[in-house]
Amino acid sequence: MPGDGKAELTEPPPPDAGEPTPARARSGPVGPVPCGHPKLGTVAIQISPSILSADFAHLADEAAAVADSADWLHVDVMDNHFVPNLTLGLPIVEALHKAATLPLDCHLMIEDPDRWAPAYAEAGAGSVTIHAEAARAPVRTLRSIRSQGARAGLALNPATPIEPYAELLPELDMLLLMTVEPGFGGQKFLDVVLPKIRRTRELIRDREAAVWLQVDGGVSEETIERCAEAGADVFVAGSAVYGAQDPAGAVEALRARAERAAG
Ligand code: DX5
Ligand code: ZN
Repeated sequence: MPGDGKAELTEPPPPDAGEPTPARARSGPVGPVPCGHPKLGTVAIQISPSILSADFAHLADEAAAVADSADWLHVDVMDNHFVPNLTLGLPIVEALHKAATLPLDCHLMIEDPDRWAPAYAEAGAGSVTIHAEAARAPVRTLRSIRSQGARAGLALNPATPIEPYAELLPELDMLLLMTVEPGFGGQKFLDVVLPKIRRTRELIRDREAAVWLQVDGGVSEETIERCAEAGADVFVAGSAVYGAQDPAGAVEALRARAERAAG
């Protein structure tokens, strides 16, 4: 309980992660799409435009611009500590949840996600992703996100290996592999992450885990096929969508390329 030092020392009751809640329906109308890729099996290609590259003075309009073409709206929360940039927080997520029709895909690039992540789920996010490098109790936090009815995601920076997190797959709904160093939009895609995307897809397939594999950073019409071929199925794109004259058209073009590459 904020402001109550005693209450913060008390262990919260264990959340029941197994029970689906009505709020989980916020995750959107996204179902698996058969895909002929020999390695991928069945995946659904999803596009999550990042509002980091949108006009912050007109966020509701920017959300509406991709409402009929995208699957999610990616919301980059940065605290100027975990990353050297400051963006937005809970009040804007709450406001966007009311104003936008797409489910919110909140990517928390913040210190102490264990403390803050559940509040983003409570604020209406359909998916909440925390960074492995910042979380001190990732299992407890991921369970807490799920118990609030949101999908739980774990993000890894480019230099963070996937292998130490293999046992956490059952706790996850999504793995996010950063394809730039987090903090800013418009950076160059890091090809060095491609082998990790492949290894992660193999891990998910081998363990038959129901985990989406998201990539974020430098995803464009030029790079999305490489990511899809390597096994990604959820694609964040900021500048490639909101830097385009026609954001909805850009989403469609990205989706078409990813589906072609995966299928
Ligand atoms: C970067 C953010 C990304 C960013 C991507 O730290 O997590 O979501 O918006 O922007 P682009 O697609 O322009 O690289
Ligand atoms: Zn992001």
